[in-house]
Amino acid sequence: MQNFSFQNRTRIHFGEKQIAKITEEIPKTANVLVVYGGGSIKKNGVYQQVSDALSDHAWFEFSGVEPNPSYYTLMQANAIIEKENINYILAVGGGSVIDGAKFIAAAACYKGRDPWNILAQKEEVSQALPIGVVLTLPATGSESNANAVVTRDSIKLAFSSPQVHPLFAILDPSVTLSLSDRQISNGVVDAFVHVLEQYLTYKVDAKVQDRFAEGLLQTLIEDGPLALTESHRNDLEVRGNLMWAATMALNGMIGVGVPQDWSTHIIGHELTGSFGIDHARTLSVVLPALIKICRQNKESKLVQYAERVWGLTEGSNIDKIDEAIRLTEAFFEEMQVPTRLSQIELGKSDIDTLINGLERNGMLAIGEHRDITLDVSRKILETAL
Ligand code: NZQ
Ligand code: ZN
Repeated sequence: MQNFSFQNRTRIHFGEKQIAKITEEIPKTANVLVVYGGGSIKKNGVYQQVSDALSDHAWFEFSGVEPNPSYYTLMQANAIIEKENINYILAVGGGSVIDGAKFIAAAACYKGRDPWNILAQKEEVSQALPIGVVLTLPATGSESNANAVVTRDSIKLAFSSPQVHPLFAILDPSVTLSLSDRQISNGVVDAFVHVLEQYLTYKVDAKVQDRFAEGLLQTLIEDGPLALTESHRNDLEVRGNLMWAATMALNGMIGVGVPQDWSTHIIGHELTGSFGIDHARTLSVVLPALIKICRQNKESKLVQYAERVWGLTEGSNIDKIDEAIRLTEAFFEEMQVPTRLSQIELGKSDIDTLINGLERNGMLAIGEHRDITLDVSRKILETAL
């Protein structure tokens, strides 16, 4: 196992009716900005629960944070932050709202020329407003990690800073009952690929991380499809397991002390940036192709994945890997997400746009061995056609 330092400062409140905990989590003296998206929280009762919990606080709101949050939208929050002297951000939503809130919190304290430089120039975030979260869509892990992804024009970039790591997060599985099938699928697939980005690399004898990762994958394989069935549509145990699995998938636990890949995400961000494809659907298209192209480098972990996650004990290593790839694709299909570029109406002629985007963003050598060059990324995309 590699050396590491680990801290996760987010206090989690899990379970039904936990939104009320906001009252004690946010200091009474704070001026709170509630950040949310397009209004799903007004239809499912979450907005009401949040306003009840904040009834003794001074609070204001900023709405309209869109999926794949836009820099331009987020920058509009500055005016209300200055006017109302905001000193606490409460994000209520999915990954886009939480990521947007992180950017807003960092931009509010930014002293330089343009906060976009935090992403484009990798400028360090030296200060940010404190952030709390009410999670409404289990997927990204953003509620308890330090990462955020923001889009400006067609450029989608990520930043990471301990300054924007949420102080608390409320995980009430019942608020996820209003999700559409598409968003449930997206969440499960995103969490699944987060685990694989940290697991499907090469062995460093990190037994705890590996077993945790395998447990998360098996949970998502078991309960992901169940959440889409009529008989379990309102099953809070299923929703709760999916919610906790998605948080654990990207809260640092399984990623410490191990090599990490993230090339599926990096290539996927180009698909969202240029063509507006849902984040998770970019991953379900790229991942199987990436495994096919990188299977030699990943062989020992792929065999472990085949044996321990899919229970494949018969045949040669080649057979096991072939079958594990087939089962991964079948799982994505069961989750109703695409596994081919053609299924999202993209073809060979679009690959240049994606490769140009990777080049422009400096993604010239990605993956755990930094050997996925632009040529290899091209091969991956051609394999995904
Ligand atoms: O905006 P509203 O009206 O709230 O509707 C949202 C949105 O349209 C809706 N929704 C959320 N909770 C709901 C609900 N609808 C009904 N009931 C509920 N309870 O779902 C739609 C999608 O929301 P979004 O936040 O965009 O989804 P997700 O959580 O998948 O977030 C995706 C974003 O997170 C980034 C992605 O790149 C993408 O921009 N990621 C962030 C990461 C991180 N910070 O660590 C890691 C991930 O890999 C990912 O890159
Ligand atoms: Zn993701």
